[in-house]
Amino acid sequence: MNWLNHDHGNFELAVYKCRTACDASDWPLVQCTFREFASRYKSHMHAEEEALFLAYDAHPGTTTDPTDSLKADHTQILRLMEHISELLDVGSYESLAEDVSLLYRTMIKHHEKEEEIFLPMASEALFPNRDTITADLKRHITVRD
Ligand SMILES: [Fe+2]
Ligand SMILES: [Fe+2]
Repeated sequence: MNWLNHDHGNFELAVYKCRTACDASDWPLVQCTFREFASRYKSHMHAEEEALFLAYDAHPGTTTDPTDSLKADHTQILRLMEHISELLDVGSYESLAEDVSLLYRTMIKHHEKEEEIFLPMASEALFPNRDTITADLKRHITVRD
């Protein structure tokens, strides 16, 4: 049983919704969907880095290669999110659909990496500490909500 599996589907759905709203030039909907997604997703990445990746890196016999790669993805995703946010701030919509599509594809790849490789590996390695880590993940998400 993979006790660490978490739901990325809602985040993917929110970005998909932004992309569809771009096609309809419904900028108020893009704005509110993106802002809500961004705040929740930042919190998600923060919790992963602070509660999960740190615990994994500290576990005997592991290397930081997997978490380094996932953190690099987070940095790239954050940059894309910042860029989209800046475009929304100034009401510049021409490239928005493309930027949101790129964010969507980048996120999907990152989620696949987490779900198919990292989370099964971490679930097994960190199984004895699952209660502490689950509580820690929840705490980090709640604090930033
Ligand atoms: Fe992540
Ligand atoms: Fe994740």
